Amino acid sequence: MSADLEPSVKPIVTIPPVITIDGPSGSGKGTIAHRLAVKLGFHVLDSGALYRLLALAAQQHGVQNNNEAALQVLAAHLDAQFQDNQGEAMLVLEGEDVTHSIRTEEIGAAASKVAALPSVREALLQRQHAFRETPGLVADGRDMGTVVFPDASLKIFLTASAEARAERRYKQLIGKGFAADLAAIVEDIKARDLRDSQRAVSPLKPADDAIVLDSTALGIEAVLSKVWEAAQNTPNLQQFLTKQ
Ligand code: C5P
Repeated sequence: MSADLEPSVKPIVTIPPVITIDGPSGSGKGTIAHRLAVKLGFHVLDSGALYRLLALAAQQHGVQNNNEAALQVLAAHLDAQFQDNQGEAMLVLEGEDVTHSIRTEEIGAAASKVAALPSVREALLQRQHAFRETPGLVADGRDMGTVVFPDASLKIFLTASAEARAERRYKQLIGKGFAADLAAIVEDIKARDLRDSQRAVSPLKPADDAIVLDSTALGIEAVLSKVWEAAQNTPNLQQFLTKQ
């Protein structure tokens, strides 16, 4: 068949839509992202878990948090999987279930140190993009809307006062059976906020086109309904919302 006779209609390639939920630690973005993804039938990316997995891998392999060259190699070859465990994410590092052990404050602080290194972020970028699958993705983190998925359909930046976030984290830790000290958590959260928002690469900040929500005085349901309302006003998410 000559080129002239080939059908001129090209197949429409649709890129799965992304909703990004960024914000500081303890703002509730993980819970909101998970609830939203379930409501929409979308995949979920907990990007903070990737940095936590890397921090734990570094600890286990005796790599210092400031050894950028070694961390880049570790990040590029990170043997980590996000598996589904009856609707909950199970995180496996080098064959070991680390779902709970990456959630300690110590690993959170180490994650924020390795996350400040440009080549580490670069090495984890492709892995994050791979989560964008049909029918769509809800991605939570610090730079989902600014760097990783700048073309996201809807961008939310969820924040709350450091004290409110520390209290939530405290209750979460106690609930999971970890020992916790509220004053130390407030200090840790402030230090992490500072490091995350002042670093040179992908600092914690709302994208120019993000909707900023302050959850200090709002419960999860109230935040979720505001995010849902924003999704209803987003044209290319309409087809997914009508299935509800
Ligand atoms: O969200 P979570 O507290 O699990 O993230 C741990 C650390 O990973 C954060 O303090 C932040 O430094 C880093 N992080 C990041 N970029 C992301 C997600 C997390 O730098 N997209």
